Amino acid sequence: MSFNKLAKQLLPTHFFSNLSTISTKTLIQMNNVWASYDAKNYSLKEITLSIERGTNYAIVGQSGSGKSTLLKLINGMMIPSKGQIKVDYQTPNINNKEFKRAMSKIGYIPQSLGLVKNITVLENVLIGSLPRIGKLNSLLKKFPESEIQEAEKIIKLVGLGGKSERKTYMLSGGEKRRVAIARALMQKPILLLADEIVSELDQVTAREIMDLVADAQQRLNLTAVMVHHDMHLALEYANRVAVIKEGQKILEIGIEGDKIIDFQSGNMSQQEIMELYNSNEP
Ligand SMILES: Nc1ncnc2c1ncn2[C@@H]1O[C@H](COP(=O)(O)OP(=O)(O)OP(=O)(O)O)[C@@H](O)[C@H]1O
Ligand SMILES: [Mg+2]
Repeated sequence: MSFNKLAKQLLPTHFFSNLSTISTKTLIQMNNVWASYDAKNYSLKEITLSIERGTNYAIVGQSGSGKSTLLKLINGMMIPSKGQIKVDYQTPNINNKEFKRAMSKIGYIPQSLGLVKNITVLENVLIGSLPRIGKLNSLLKKFPESEIQEAEKIIKLVGLGGKSERKTYMLSGGEKRRVAIARALMQKPILLLADEIVSELDQVTAREIMDLVADAQQRLNLTAVMVHHDMHLALEYANRVAVIKEGQKILEIGIEGDKIIDFQSGNMSQQEIMELYNSNEP
């Protein structure tokens, strides 16, 4: 008996009907995903979602609801306990060589930004080019002139022109986020995963950073999955907003025209959405 036939006998039929929803438009597909850090508790439960290429997908929820865990599953830093994830047709797992190669196209900005504080802006941004400059050059940190020029171009693009030689620890919070975005863009990513990069910023700076991402998305047809603290900001910029509560996706909404649409169940009224939306505001 073929593996497929055997699997069909062993797995519930809805598993396969979900799989058939994967299309070329879809970049990320999660089917009934569960994740845990220990044997007792699940940090994420029954997560099913589909993210189309080129969209800005926001994840919102209270502290500890599982937002960062969701991003870690998408970039393969964590493996689900149950369920299936596909990112650009591959199963995320950083221990898998093939996925690791594909990962160079995922620009991941962790909640802590992951910048090296005591090196310059330029050096931090150049880290984004390491996967493509070859092992030896990468070990010696020898960057080709073309990569340095590219990094300078991106530094200007994110509004840090003239600051490339500045040590990163000397920058403001907003400037550090720009460096992290620049490093991610330097990877020439198809997918940007950003974990609360505009939280704790004033409204003006937060909008500047979000405009920057929106602009990069348009130019590069980039898919962005961004964790937010501010529901209103998320709704303003994202095509879809998933609300996570205690590890479960309880709502998925987006604006069409002047209406908020419920994409999860499809049968909630505008008023019901607003009530749920307000009661879950972080
Ligand atoms: N390394 C870890 N080991 C054990 N449990 C963890 C670990 N990281 C997260 N958790 C637990 O998993 C759950 C989800 O955590 P996660 O970091 O995904 O939440 P979050 O929504 O990103 O929260 P925040 O808004 O505070 O960043 C929490 O209950 C948390 O305690
Ligand atoms: Mg988090």
